[in-house]
Order: sequence, then C-alpha cells, then structure tokens
Amino acid sequence: CGIVGYIGPKQAQNILLEGLRKLEYRGYDSAGLAVYQDGKLKVEKAEGPLSALEERLNGQPLHGEMGIGHTRWATHGKPSDENSHPHVDGKQQFAVVHNGIIENYLELKEELQEKGYAFTSETDTEVIAHLLADLDDGDLVSTVRKAVARMEGAYALAIAHVDEPDKLVAVRLASPLIVGVGDGENFIASDIPAILEHTRDVYVLDDGEMAVLTRDGVELSTTDGKPVSRDLMHVTWDAATAEKGGYEHFMLKEIHEQPKAIRDTLAGRIKDGLVDLSQEISLSAEELKRFDKIHFVACGTAYHAGLIGKSVVEKLARIPVEVDVASEYRYRDPIITPSTLVVVVSQSGETADTLAALREAQKAGAQVLGITNVVGSSVAREADEVLMTWAGPEIAVASTKAYTTQLIAIYLFGLYLARILETRSESELAEATEALLKLPKQAETLLEDPSAIRRFAGDIAQHEDLFFIGRGLDHAVVMEGSLKLKEISYIHSDAYAAGELKHGTLALIEEGIPVIALATQKAVYDKMVSNIIEVKARGAHVLGLGLEGDDELGKSVDEVITIPETLPLLTPVLSVIPLQLLAYYTSTARGLNVDKPRNLAKSVTVE
Ligand code: G6P
Repeated sequence: CGIVGYIGPKQAQNILLEGLRKLEYRGYDSAGLAVYQDGKLKVEKAEGPLSALEERLNGQPLHGEMGIGHTRWATHGKPSDENSHPHVDGKQQFAVVHNGIIENYLELKEELQEKGYAFTSETDTEVIAHLLADLDDGDLVSTVRKAVARMEGAYALAIAHVDEPDKLVAVRLASPLIVGVGDGENFIASDIPAILEHTRDVYVLDDGEMAVLTRDGVELSTTDGKPVSRDLMHVTWDAATAEKGGYEHFMLKEIHEQPKAIRDTLAGRIKDGLVDLSQEISLSAEELKRFDKIHFVACGTAYHAGLIGKSVVEKLARIPVEVDVASEYRYRDPIITPSTLVVVVSQSGETADTLAALREAQKAGAQVLGITNVVGSSVAREADEVLMTWAGPEIAVASTKAYTTQLIAIYLFGLYLARILETRSESELAEATEALLKLPKQAETLLEDPSAIRRFAGDIAQHEDLFFIGRGLDHAVVMEGSLKLKEISYIHSDAYAAGELKHGTLALIEEGIPVIALATQKAVYDKMVSNIIEVKARGAHVLGLGLEGDDELGKSVDEVITIPETLPLLTPVLSVIPLQLLAYYTSTARGLNVDKPRNLAKSVTVE
C-alpha cells in the first residue's frame, strides 16, 4: 500500500493525489483521502484505480491544507469503497491510513464491539480508528502512544485528528515510512517517489518511532515517548530510481524483498511453535482427513512451486500428489473425485489456464485451495479455501518473491495437514516450524554478497547454451533457475534431473559449456557429485551450489557458492535465490530489459 500525508500552506488534495499517483505504478485496487475542511475531516474514497477517486473529487474537490491519503493493496477485506482507507471512528474525529498488518486486530475488534463501537469495514485498519477514539484523552500524541501500545504487528500509520488540525502523526513499526521536510510544509510518505517533487530532505523512521508534524517542524520520538534526534537524509535519486527503492530494477528490489515477504507470509500462522491455519482454512479435521489425493495445478513459476509442493506434502502428510501444468490439466481427463483436493497456485490469481482448471475441478466435485498473492483476485474469490502469500505487489515479469512465498504457503499447508493427519510427530513438526522461522534471516545473509554470482553471470553471458542439474528437490529448483535465466537473458538452458544426464543429455556437454549444479540434498549428495564428475570429465565449466560447511564440493567443481544450512525439505527457499541473482546479473551483463522481457507478460489472461 502507499501512504501520503501533507501539512502546509497549499491545497492538500492536489499534493496527496500527486503523491498517490507516484505510487500507483505498483498497481493498487483502491484509494482514498481525508482532508481537514471547515472544522471537519472530510473523507473520499473509491475502489479501482486512482482515476476513480479523482473522478469523484472532480465534482466536489476537498478544500484544506492538511490531509492524508492512501492507495490500497487489499489484505484484510476485499477491494471495495468501504474497505479503502482512510478509516475513521464513529464520530469522525480520527482519520487513519495504514500499511501492514495488525496481528491482534480480531481481539481488539471484539473488545471494541463489546463496548459498542460499530464497524463498517472488514479491515484491520478500522480497529485503529475506534481504538484511538476509545483511548482519546484530548491529546492526539498521547492518545496515539496509548493505542500503539495495544497494537501488535508490522505497520506504518498516518493519523489526523479533527481537533488538532495543525498536527499530523506518523508511526512506524516494521513497515517503511519517511517524513519529508519542506519549507513551511511537511510530508509523510511510505516511499520516496511520493514526495520527491516537493523535497529531497527526509527523515527515515526506524521501527518503534513516531513523528509529529506541524507546518514548521517535525519532532521525532520513540512510540513510548523518548525523544529521537536524527540527521536529515538528502535524497539524490532521480524519480525512476526512487520508484525502485534505489535498486536499478524492480526484479533486484523484489529479490531483496524476499526476507520480508517470507516473514510476512509466516506471520500470524504459527502458534505455540506449530503451524495453525484454522483461522484461514475452514475445512474441519474430518474433512481434511477425507482427501485421498491432491493435485497441484499452476503455470510458469507457480507450477515450479507446485513441484516442490508434491515433495513437501507427500513427505509430510503422506497423501499422493500429482502436479500439472494448468494448460494440460483439463485435457488429460484427470481423475477428480469429491475426495480430491486441488491446489491452484497463482501469483496474480488471474491466469486464464489456472482459472479454467479451478472451475473444471470444482465442477467435478473437488475442493479447491487457492494459493495467491492478490486479495480479491478471481482465484481468491472462486477457490473454496484460500491461503494468501503476503509478497506485496510484484512488478517484474520474472517472478521471484512470489515464488518463495508460494513455497512458504506450501510448507505451512503441508505442516498443518501433517499435524491434523498426525502423520508426523509433534517434535518433528516443531523442528520444521522452527527451521521455517529462521529462513528470513538466512535469506538476508544470502543476499549480502552477490559478487561470486555476479562474476559467474559475466561468464555465462557469453554463452548461448547451458545446463542446470540437480536431484530431488534440487531438480525442481533448477527448473525454476533455468526458467528465470531463459526469461530475462534469452540464453537457452535446460534443467535436468542429474541422474538422467547419461541417458541423452550428456551428448551435448562439450568443452567450456557452463553447468550449474545444485548439491543441497544430503540423501543424494554422493550420487550428485558423481554426476558432476561426469560433466566435468566432458569439459564442462561447473558452478556448484552447496550447503555452508561443505568442504568437499569445491574439489569437483570450478566455482562454489553456498547457502546457509536448513532442513533438506526447506532448502529450495534459499537455493533459488542465487539462481534468481544469476539470471538477473546475466541479463544486465547482456544489457537487456530485465523487468520487461520480450514476448512475455506478467499475467496471462488468455488460454
Ligand atoms: C506468466 C508470468 C510468469 C508466471 C505465470 C503464472 O507467464 O510471466 O512469471 O509464473 O504467468 O502466473 P500466476 O500469476 O498465475 O502465478
């Protein structure tokens, strides 16, 4: 979502709309403004693109010099006028815009409802407005401090109060927020592009900090009241770089967003050390136990997530799983019965082939679980059960953070199923859950130094053909690595189950040909090393990807990169990251259009 706030001498509406327009490139489903006008906080909001809001404002513009605005990417509650921000309390005293998640919102909502507060939306944000009203002590800043003390989660807020029109409050907990400092005017924004036209001097808020803005000043403090002093940061980025958060391309930004996306996808789904999806999946234990087979159906990168899904679900829950490319599924006369669970995986939730498969499966009596990144998408609306990935908007055509969060959703589902079916002991489930929670930090470490991958990318950029090999889960991961490389570097590559090489592909290995070999699966490690030796013997130039602490791999390959150690089942989340980077740096080494490769679209809505 995008947040903008303004206080100064100018008309707030224009500045807020311009700011939101600068954030709109990421794709949003609704937008809204609250402006202080004639002693009231006036709110206007609309589902749809920003132009829908602008149309509404055309007839009746908001006049006032203080206000907040928001573009929404739906999380709690579908895209609609009611669910759009800003949200207000019953008396319209407080207006709030919010990014992120209030994890204990249900608990707060129940408490406030008992006290008689009436809710008009399905959002977690509306809880904040009523909570502020409930705690109102006549002072905006101290009321905000009290409310924040009650809220758990990761969020960024901008808040206005009708009785203090000379003030705006911004709060940050683990969701980006900046304050722009102007001359007689000040700004709040979730991202730099929103305010770049007005000022280049910003305070970047840290977690647990808030800012109180007046026209002439900005005061920073911690949410519990300690003053904070900070130097202004002067932004030197141009507008295009600012959109990408300082990265050269959206793809690189999104690769680096993976630790956060994984964290967000895990949030609220683990209780007392075990996965609990009972809030989201309405199927009872009895109903879950009735499934005798599972089909994963998806396209492209999401299909590759499904391949991992097969191993994960079979291993954890011992239910037979088939995986299909959605465009093939319907035409192969699959055996679907009422005891089949069909899992469709789709970032956009709009891929035509995937949707057609979903409908076909429902027609045949199956239950459908949708794993998607877009609230309110067709998959989210039509599937019987939905498990969201919380990757945030993905702009680059080549999918990265959507894939890793799809894997996380699949692990969560597999572990939940195993818990209900009692196919794994509680200690095994607890161990896997603990390992899952370590992944965000491990992904961060992995992203710290891409220099070795970058070097290798420089080499392979000179080639027109190369190979990826792996066994078991590594095979599924190399399929994704190969797809990434093909999509954005236009270099042909094939991904092979390493044991299959000698049944044909080995004929293509010649002097100097690059081979990327994954060796993260302990159970097949020795076999994998033999396969690496087979290609080395034919002259291949091998990049080996193994686990940290593996001192052997270096002896049989030309270059090694490592990933932090985790459970064998979870390695794909980490091992795919170097492959994403490899594709990225190869594409940039070739000077190609990384974010918008030729002939491809982000979302394919034709069959
Ligand atoms: C397109 C995109 C791919 C994506 C596939 C499935 O082909 O270019 O990156 O994996 O569609 O998209 P979905 O939104 O259903 O995950």
